[in-house]
Amino acid sequence: MHAVSTRRPGPLRVLGIESSCDETAAAVVSADGVVHSDIIASQIAIHAPYGGIVPEVASRAHLGSITSVVEAALGALPDGLADVDAIAVTNGPGLVGALLVGVQFAKALAFSRGLPIVGVDHLVAHLLAVHLRRDGEALEESAREPAYPYIALLASGGHTALYEVRSGTEQVLLGQTRDDAAGEAFDKVAKLLGLGYPGGPRVDELAAQGDARAVALPRPNVGGRDSLEFSFSGLKTAVAQHVAKQGAPRDERALADLCASFQGVIVETLVRKSVLACRALDLPRLVLSGGVAANRGLRARAAEVCARERIGLFVPSLASCTDNAAMIAYAGAQRLATGARDDLTLTVYPRSPSVRRGRILDVRER
Ligand code: KG4
Ligand code: ZN
Repeated sequence: MHAVSTRRPGPLRVLGIESSCDETAAAVVSADGVVHSDIIASQIAIHAPYGGIVPEVASRAHLGSITSVVEAALGALPDGLADVDAIAVTNGPGLVGALLVGVQFAKALAFSRGLPIVGVDHLVAHLLAVHLRRDGEALEESAREPAYPYIALLASGGHTALYEVRSGTEQVLLGQTRDDAAGEAFDKVAKLLGLGYPGGPRVDELAAQGDARAVALPRPNVGGRDSLEFSFSGLKTAVAQHVAKQGAPRDERALADLCASFQGVIVETLVRKSVLACRALDLPRLVLSGGVAANRGLRARAAEVCARERIGLFVPSLASCTDNAAMIAYAGAQRLATGARDDLTLTVYPRSPSVRRGRILDVRER
């Protein structure tokens, strides 16, 4: 283990590495959220022919691109790795083989340069991504940061959940999906409609041209109206049954209507439960996070409802919503700032063991 030594004035600078799913990513971010570099090598084209992510293929692709991705992220700094104070790496949840590539790379780099290393929970990183400050973002936008505590909706390909975010290192799980994640529902419905992988962005585009009242679909009602739990598998099945009965949409218009109707139910559910959480905890600040937070319908509806409910809405830039390593570096910096360190025994986990009894535990408490 190594102490963090800041070699230059200013906040701690952290190299973040992310390889939990189908993006190999590296970024350098300061503890204050300033993004110095942010590189992503997407594997979408590699997995698209299979209609989804093939874990073994993902691991191999990470191995092939991790060196050049990290080099590119460091290349943006005047002195490269010498400008970095510590390394943060996603060590779960995610595909185990994929995670191992990033973690082993990070360990080797930390060991060879005597740098401290911290593991980062991918979900925690999504919850904090709203604090990133990227170049080129309007100043008013990047200056708009929520004060702690806030409510965060995490809606990604693998997870849909609501959290109370108390600080950069303490988050409380309020409710989550019992089955499919919102992004997973987008991807499965898109596949069913022959829209390719990943389906979220394509459904989003089509939905913008459709009528959300065109097709009646059931609204998920798991645990009753006041519950903070989600369930999206019934909705996905309802779309499948609609297609089985009526046949695949005949034209672009019918396809857009079906996408709009499906997306409308997801958006309404996500927004309604997020507002419910804000009210239940009397916290008038809501953050949207995860890949599905890139959805234009969700962003627009959340803005409308939050304005009416007098809830401050904070939405990360598109680049900060979908998977990236800047959020990993930032979350790592927050852990490092509290004195947390991992060592070269750092291992990976497929599902979040860090979430126990509704809290995401810091490594020292696990
Ligand atoms: O957070 P993310 O990049 O990766 C995970 O951690 O899962 O989320 C990916 C998910 C995919 O399911 C993708 O279809 C969905 O986010 N997604 C969208 C949009 N952009 C990405 N879903 C709806 N509308 C979008 N515009
Ligand atoms: Zn993610």
